[in-house]
Amino acid sequence: MRVLLLGKRGQLGRAFVKKLSSEGYQLVALGREECDVTSMSSVKRWLDEVKPHVVINCTAYNYVDKAEEDYATAFAVNAFAVKVLGELCVAKGVKLIHYSTDYVFDGTKGAPYVEDDKPSPLSLYGKSKYTGELLLQELEGDFLIFRVSWVYGEGKQNFLYKLLNWVKTQDILKISADEVSVPTSTKTIVDVTLKALKKDLRGLYHLTNSGYASRYEYAKKVLRLLKIEKTVLPVPMSVFSLPAKRPSFSAMSNARISKELQIDIPHWEEELEMFLPLLLPELLGS
Ligand SMILES: NC(=O)c1ccc[n+]([C@@H]2O[C@H](COP(=O)([O-])OP(=O)(O)OC[C@H]3O[C@@H](n4cnc5c(N)ncnc54)[C@H](OP(=O)(O)O)[C@@H]3O)[C@@H](O)[C@H]2O)c1
Repeated sequence: MRVLLLGKRGQLGRAFVKKLSSEGYQLVALGREECDVTSMSSVKRWLDEVKPHVVINCTAYNYVDKAEEDYATAFAVNAFAVKVLGELCVAKGVKLIHYSTDYVFDGTKGAPYVEDDKPSPLSLYGKSKYTGELLLQELEGDFLIFRVSWVYGEGKQNFLYKLLNWVKTQDILKISADEVSVPTSTKTIVDVTLKALKKDLRGLYHLTNSGYASRYEYAKKVLRLLKIEKTVLPVPMSVFSLPAKRPSFSAMSNARISKELQIDIPHWEEELEMFLPLLLPELLGS
């Protein structure tokens, strides 16, 4: 199978490149410098050249707070580029795998969100990602859309990296206890995506590790695993006065994809215990 991967330098992109290269896929992986997804001509040129069976879109504008001001870029990458990519894939009969976020929900449900729940994003980042989903779904192509949450892997755009930097610079860590979702490893996302691809699934699924946690519980677990002794205070997220509103409970249920693929997706704690040691060199690297 020939795969064209966009966004090879992101957390998820890097995890896919490792896995696909070791599993005999014919892979062409591109970074922003080779293919800016907001450039239709560039995307079209690569599709014409590579003639992939499947495109995996790992690109995203993920700066949740920055998106409140720089929403034009957020929508360009997370929504309009996705639509153009979708149209090109439909025209060429190519399967497209795309990722969205738990931040499409407003967090008021009080129980894990399922695929049939109606999104109502609180932030412009969430709105841009939801618009991307809607624009793709309108096209009715061979698309697989996974909503993922609190992604961590090799890379810096994750809570683990931020947490370990705070450990270096702050005596007491204040972490929000009223922000709940599911820490999800890039390894889980890649493994489940490839199973779904082999089964030729299409449609929209929630793809997270199992269980859920507050940021506070997540941070405590990480520090315990790393044997780092530090005072951690549970606080409401309002103390940070961040520009973007975040949902208080945006955990999603992975029941639908688990049932479809007949798999048990590891609990987030189990996954973290296994994966964290492998990530440490990069997380502590700077
Ligand atoms: N990270 C999370 O906690 C989280 C949570 C929920 C959902 N998600 C979703 O999960 C997916 C994977 O996220 P991730 O954590 O792997 O993201 P990431 O590490 O931030 O990677 C995103 C990649 O997209 C690239 N990119 C941005 N604009 C581009 C453009 N115009 N053209 C080409 N490439 C561009 C970035 O390139 P540069 O390196 O050059 O900037 C970066 O390499 C995304 O759809 C994201 O929205 C992530």
